[in-house]
Formats: sequence, C-alpha cells, structure tokens
Amino acid sequence: MASKIMEKMKTFWMLFSIMLAFSEASKILVVFPMPSRSHGNLGDGIVRNLLKAGHEVTYITPFTYKNPPSNLRTIDVSSNFDLLPKDILSIKSIMDKTADDISIGLMIFMMTEITKATISNEATQKLLNDPKEQFDVVIAEWMFSDLPAGFATVYDCPLIWLSSVEVHWMILQLIDEPTNPAYSVDIMSTYTPPLNFFQRANELWMQIKMQLLNYFWLDGVQEAAYESHIVPLVTKRGRKPPTFNEARYNASMILSNAYVSTCGAISLPQSHKYIGGYHIDDNVQPLPADLKKLMDSAKDGVVYFSMGSNLKSKDLPDEVKTSILKMFGTLKQTVLWKFEEVLPNLPKNVHILEWAPQQAILSHPNLAVFVTHGGLLSTTEAVHFGVPIIGIPVFADQFMNVEKAKARGFAERVDLAYTMADTLKTKILEVIGNKRYAEKAKELSFIHHDRPVKPGQELVHWVNHVINTRGAQHLRSPAVDLPFYKRKFLDLAALLAVLVLAVYILLKRALAYICSRVCSTKQKTGSKKKHN
Ligand SMILES: *[C@@H]1O[C@H](CO)[C@@H](O)[C@H](O)[C@H]1NC(C)=O
Repeated sequence: MASKIMEKMKTFWMLFSIMLAFSEASKILVVFPMPSRSHGNLGDGIVRNLLKAGHEVTYITPFTYKNPPSNLRTIDVSSNFDLLPKDILSIKSIMDKTADDISIGLMIFMMTEITKATISNEATQKLLNDPKEQFDVVIAEWMFSDLPAGFATVYDCPLIWLSSVEVHWMILQLIDEPTNPAYSVDIMSTYTPPLNFFQRANELWMQIKMQLLNYFWLDGVQEAAYESHIVPLVTKRGRKPPTFNEARYNASMILSNAYVSTCGAISLPQSHKYIGGYHIDDNVQPLPADLKKLMDSAKDGVVYFSMGSNLKSKDLPDEVKTSILKMFGTLKQTVLWKFEEVLPNLPKNVHILEWAPQQAILSHPNLAVFVTHGGLLSTTEAVHFGVPIIGIPVFADQFMNVEKAKARGFAERVDLAYTMADTLKTKILEVIGNKRYAEKAKELSFIHHDRPVKPGQELVHWVNHVINTRGAQHLRSPAVDLPFYKRKFLDLAALLAVLVLAVYILLKRALAYICSRVCSTKQKTGSKKKHN
C-alpha cells in the first residue's frame, strides 16, 4: 500500500517537473506609451496576465503600476503626457466645434512623435543601449504608427501587435492585406455594414486616400524616424539593420482587443487572434459598502452615467450640466454620475462619484442602463456584464462602437448637443421600459463568454506559442509578402491589355491590307470598266 502511494508520488513529481520545464519564464517587453488611461488599462491587462503565467515582464508605460511584483520592471515614460495637445479631448471644444477634427493622418503623425519621444526617453535609452538586455518577444500597442515595430528589430525577437480597437483594414494590412471596403469599414467610419452604394464608394475612397497619404507623406515621416531612432541601435548591436518596410511587416501576430460579440464576423488571417475582454479581471473588486447599500436598495433600478476616463463630465458646458442634472431629478431610478467635481443642488436620487468602480457597478443586478461615451472598453464591459447602453459618442471609434451596439439591439444613441437632456430622458425611459434591450445585452453576453477558453488564457497561450516557435512563421499570411500589383493581378491585367491591343492592331493592319488589296483590284476593275 505504502509503496503504491510512493509510486504515485513519484509519477506526480515527474509530471510536475516536466510541466515546470515547459512553463519556463520568458522575458517579455510590453510597449504601451500612449498617455491615456484606457490604453493604460489595456497594457495593464496584458501585463497582469503575463505575470500570472510566470513571465518576466518589462513594461514601458506613462502610468505607475500599482504594487509591482518582483517579476515586473516598469520603464517610466510619464513625460509623454506633455506631448498630447491639451484641447484635443475636451467635450466643450468638440461641442462648440473649436477642436480640429482628429484625422487619421494627424493621428499617424502624432503617434509617431509619441513613439519617438518614448524611444528618446532616458529610461528607455538605457534599456535599448544595454547590450546585455534581451527579450523573447515584444508586445506593442498599434496606434496608427508602425514605428514601435523597431523595438523588436533592436532585440531581434518576434513582434506581437496589440490592436486596441475593432478589427480594421489599416492594421490587418500589416500581417495580411486590407479588408474589403465593400463590407468592412474604416476605424473612423460611422457606417455599419451592410453598406449602400454611396457608403461603399466612400469606404473605398477612405482606403485609397489613406494609401496615397501614406505613400506621399506619412511613410516618409515614419521611415525617417526609424532611420534616426532605431537603425543606430541595431548597428550598435553589430547587426545589419533591416529596412523599415522589412521591420514593419514582420509581426508574428495581432492580438485584437475585440471579439465577434462586439464586431462583425469578417474573415481573418491565421495570425490574428481575438482576445477582447482580457482586460477585465475574473475577480471583480467588490463595491465599496456605501455604494453597495445604495445599489442594493434601488428598487426601480440604477442609471449609471460615465463619459470615460479621457473625457471629463466637468468639461460639459454649464447649461448642459444643469439641464441634465434637472432631468435626472425627474427620474424614479437612482442615478450614479461619474463626475470630477462637486455639484450644487443635487436631486435626492442623484449621486456623484468622483471615482467609479465601473466593473463592479456594471455587474450589479439592479443596474438598468449604462450611459456611456461608447469607448471600446466601456462597450466591451457592457457586453461582458450584459448591460444595455445609451451611447453619446464624442470622437474617434466611439461613433462606430455605438452604431454597432445599436444595430445589435442593445443600445440607443444620443448626440452630443446643448439640448440633449430631453432626448436623453426619452431614451433612458425607452431602454429601461422595453425588455428587448436588456434581453439582447444578455444574449450578447452569452456569446461573449461562450468561448473554449477565457481571453486572458488565450492571450497567454498565443504569446507562448510565438515564443516557443520563434515567431510563428507557419501562421504568416503569404499575402503580406506580395506587392499590391501581384495580389490584384495587375500584372496579368497589363499583359492581357497588351495582348488585346496587339491583336487589335494586327487585325486592323490585316484588314487594312486585305482592304487595300480588294479595293485596288476593285479600282483596277473599275478603271478597266471605264476604259471599256
Ligand atoms: C522578423 O522576425 C523574426 C522573428 O519572428 C526575426 O528572427 C527576424 O530577424 C525578423 N526579420 C526582420 C527583417 O526584422
């Protein structure tokens, strides 16, 4: 009996040590330099999952990481905050249309500047210039600039892009080819497929316009930054630096902060994996006691209103604040408003939260509707917890997110305007009053969770896969190595055109020849006739 137990223990230890050998910690560099809280949350989510899997993580971030464990080293690039134009995210300037439209061209330019500053940062320079520093993989957020690919070039290791938004053509072309604009839309678009004729034409034009802009301007900007900021580091390590194009099209994988529950079912290359929802911790932090009591006792349900972490409710024009507050006072629901300052004359049912534990609030059964700006993190969390939303989109991908949510039946949209209080009330009552919205949200929530493994596990799996296969070349799409003219058979088209032209010219000449013979005999016979 005892020997049997010993035997079992032995096998157990053997299996255990094999497991240990396989789950060896890897060194991973995570690059999330965007000075914006939601992007920071996405980076934190990656880091949290990798640490949990036992990896050694170096994290380039403008934020301080709370209680860093021993296997995490952070590289502080908080000076990136100074680079953001101050006015870009204020609600009032957007409502008054004094802020410039955020065009994609401007974003590429700006994000290249932020990446350059990140590389030049003293702390990053130390990391990049130390020949002893090595990494098994670099995971970088793709935000319009391809320059972060240079981090993997410096360390000569595989690169994984983290796509923070829905699947779109600009990022997919880095590992495959652009998606078809007939049924997939641009990241800044407000259309939801199916597209009508005008929308389809417009989406095609967006892609062509952007490609031209890249070709004639932005590729040059990025390439120059690569030459000045990356190439010297590679040379210093004694390697011949690849060209910028070789570096930017060399990613092993895209991990996408999206899932079919929030975006359409378009066909995707093998090196693209959905991990949407990974930033949500499995164990939601419990509500603080006072907030829990408030929500528990809200018999008529709770309305939760938050414009996210970048946009501040306090930047709303005063008359809008007052009218919304007054309108909230007429509701019988309890209202939680994430707001950054104290408001006078609060109605009894309205509560201001300077800081809101959003996920805990969304998971409460009494929550009736979530009024949001429609950022992807907020809409994903709404789907995760199965909550209907009212979207007030302000900029960037928020319009697309809200339109998609509306098309899926769990959302209504309200436009940002000085007179929006009345519309907001109508929509709140509609969403709370009609069971359809909550049911749809629950349905989508089921789809969101019904996956073979949780998104956090999936993320770790693919990162390990890329490391263990040294770049997962077997998943690389052949399309990315073909130039545009070959993919679209433009060479064949040109050849056919030449052939058709040649045949046309030959036929024409032959006809002319035959004709001239016939005509001349006719003429001869004609002239003979005259003679006769
Ligand atoms: C492309 O990535 C692989 C690893 O995935 C690396 O070994 C190779 O050197 C990279 N090539 C270029 C041109 O950067």
